[in-house]
Amino acid sequence: MEKGFHIPVMVEEVMKYLITRDDGIYVDGTIGGGGHSEEILKRTKAKVIGFDIDPEAVKFASERLKSFGDRILILNRNYATLKESLSEIGVEKITGFLLDLGVSSFQLDHGGGFSFRLDDKLDMRMDRSSELTAEHILNNYSEKEIADIIFKFGEEPRAKMIAKEIVRYRKRKKIETTGELVKIVDKVASKKYRLKVLARVFQSLRIAVNRELDNLKIALDSVVDVLEKGGRIVVISYHSLEDRIVKMFFKSNEKRCICPPDVFECRCGKVEVIKILTKKPVAPSEKEISLNPRARSAKLRAGEKMVEFA
Ligand SMILES: C[S@@+](CC[C@H](N)C(=O)[O-])C[C@H]1O[C@@H](n2cnc3c(N)ncnc32)[C@H](O)[C@@H]1O
Repeated sequence: MEKGFHIPVMVEEVMKYLITRDDGIYVDGTIGGGGHSEEILKRTKAKVIGFDIDPEAVKFASERLKSFGDRILILNRNYATLKESLSEIGVEKITGFLLDLGVSSFQLDHGGGFSFRLDDKLDMRMDRSSELTAEHILNNYSEKEIADIIFKFGEEPRAKMIAKEIVRYRKRKKIETTGELVKIVDKVASKKYRLKVLARVFQSLRIAVNRELDNLKIALDSVVDVLEKGGRIVVISYHSLEDRIVKMFFKSNEKRCICPPDVFECRCGKVEVIKILTKKPVAPSEKEISLNPRARSAKLRAGEKMVEFA
């Protein structure tokens, strides 16, 4: 297995916001190549529980981190199952929760159809056991459904035109490869904006196939229940749709009612459930971007849980 699986992004910033104590249990919801987890394990005496839906990532990170023995546990699971998974393994509270969203460099560079720069099968599943693929969407969804995906998850203004072209093409031949999708998009996009449009179309399909925004919302909603008081949530996002969800989650928990459901009128007066630690998202330094261009769109947001129960 190769060494360059993935270069972790904003390692110092992640450690600064995530680590609050030397012991405890940190959850890395997107362990990938294990770069962030390794730093937590090196800098603390804490345990780390890692999640990843990609078995290749689980295999790679398990091998990389095996010297930490029983301080590391890696689950081949969706981070959206956070609460159930922790309860299954008997963990009630965690000290910190990290999400480094999106795909790893390994996934981008090794097939799977994530990149428009490689001619590959149009798959895009991070979890190969799930059923929905990009090929299925492109060949079976209606023109309107495809346009909605490209518009909603890619924020691409030419979504309708691209969907029309996709449907026109598939009437003659099933769309099977990323190369074919690139050709279809090229019919609509001007040379000047081609890379932007391709990036948006591919992003939109990847988000739809992996239900990325739903997973993020589910995980953020459930983490509040399992995080200890003083524990931190750190999320690195790579596009505005993810960042908006993270921002809204923090905002809606800044002052929230935590009265029991059977109480008629709010008595808590809305308490600060999460204190926002990053008023503005933190971005990587110019130096980091020059060393790792894939870090360029990263935005980090962090918050601290202020109450025992929420
Ligand atoms: C950007 S990489 C993480 C890199 C990692 N921080 C490191 O240091 O190597 C994102 C990882 O999250 C995984 N992933 C994406 N969605 C997931 C989900 N819903 N549940 C679990 N893992 C997920 C991907 O398979 C990928 O390996």
